[in-house]
Amino acid sequence: MGNIQIASGIHWIGALDPDLRVFDVIMKAEHGTTYNSYLVKGQKGCAVIETVKERFAEQYLERLSTLVDLSRIDYIVMNHTEPDHSGSLEALLSEAISAKVVSSRNAVPFIKGILNRDIDIQVARDGDTIDLGGLTLEFLEAPFLHWPDTMFTFVREQGVLFSCDFLGSHYADERMFDDQVDDFSFSRRYYYDHIIRPFKEFALKALDKIEGLPIQVIAPSHGPILRTSLHKYVGDYRAWSSEPTRGEKPFVLVFYATSYGNTGAMAEKAAEGAREAGAEVGVFDLQVADSLALLDDVERADAILVGSLTINGDAVKPVWDFLSSLATLKLRGKAAGAFGSYGWSGEAVRFLEERLKALKFKVPVEGVRVQLVPTADDLAACREMGRKLVESLSK
Ligand code: FEO
Repeated sequence: MGNIQIASGIHWIGALDPDLRVFDVIMKAEHGTTYNSYLVKGQKGCAVIETVKERFAEQYLERLSTLVDLSRIDYIVMNHTEPDHSGSLEALLSEAISAKVVSSRNAVPFIKGILNRDIDIQVARDGDTIDLGGLTLEFLEAPFLHWPDTMFTFVREQGVLFSCDFLGSHYADERMFDDQVDDFSFSRRYYYDHIIRPFKEFALKALDKIEGLPIQVIAPSHGPILRTSLHKYVGDYRAWSSEPTRGEKPFVLVFYATSYGNTGAMAEKAAEGAREAGAEVGVFDLQVADSLALLDDVERADAILVGSLTINGDAVKPVWDFLSSLATLKLRGKAAGAFGSYGWSGEAVRFLEERLKALKFKVPVEGVRVQLVPTADDLAACREMGRKLVESLSK
């Protein structure tokens, strides 16, 4: 695959990784991904925007060298330094002997840590520009999207915004433009949920910052280059990053995993208690529920209860997987509690309470542990737990 012109003087020079199926250990990538790097070539200078994963360095340098003598590259702009973008920096620097690396201040220690040597880096502050002759690089600080180092680069003359991971997606297709590839809306949302969602307030700040720019093309670091429906893409990010609408009643969710129905019965009673205390309540069996689909609800919830049986001295995997998926949410201030039936040791409830606290939930109710089949008194205790959890919300 060759380079692709995206505007006069601006080319995509990245790499496709269509066979990738897992990214960063935690993300699925059914459609592979791309590592988008770009060349911006003005009348008096040229700059490369980011690089590609190390494994693709050879083809990347070949692709780039069809457009420019590598020794004449003036700048290498690192909008972000995660190794999927910085992995070929060393290889590029060995050929681009005149190039100056440009990055945010926060990126400087990361670049030095990746190269494991000291290099002279030009720090770009918000609003700084580099004139390449007819094309100007304008730098916009955009920290925590999704690392502290992230920034955007805008070429005002062509209206091209290099947005780094922001507005990207793991989706490999040689056609490269949003109006030419197949539907990638799932990948776009999935990417947002895993990469940008934990940093919603920074996403909103970045959206405010780019709102007034005359953007014609958004060129992210992964997935299709966006040149149509820009209002929709940006609008989706604003909607996804905005605070969920709250109902009038407290909203409580009860999650559980059960083997013989005992923890399930406890869940239903806890839900009943929460309802009696005036809450809107949802109950989910984690053996069949899709954790990702539940994130919006958890974000909207005022409180959650989590129940697990104990197997081999621990809570069970679907429950841990669910709690792991909550790491992308802002949970501070929400209330939580734990419960569960057990055979002879019953550690799950204590472990769940510890994990809920580590996730920044407050745990205002005592967990309910029941050996094997819950009695009427045990079920009353679960009901009381649900009730107290809701009452704690008004304190
Ligand atoms: Fe695509 Fe955060 O690296």
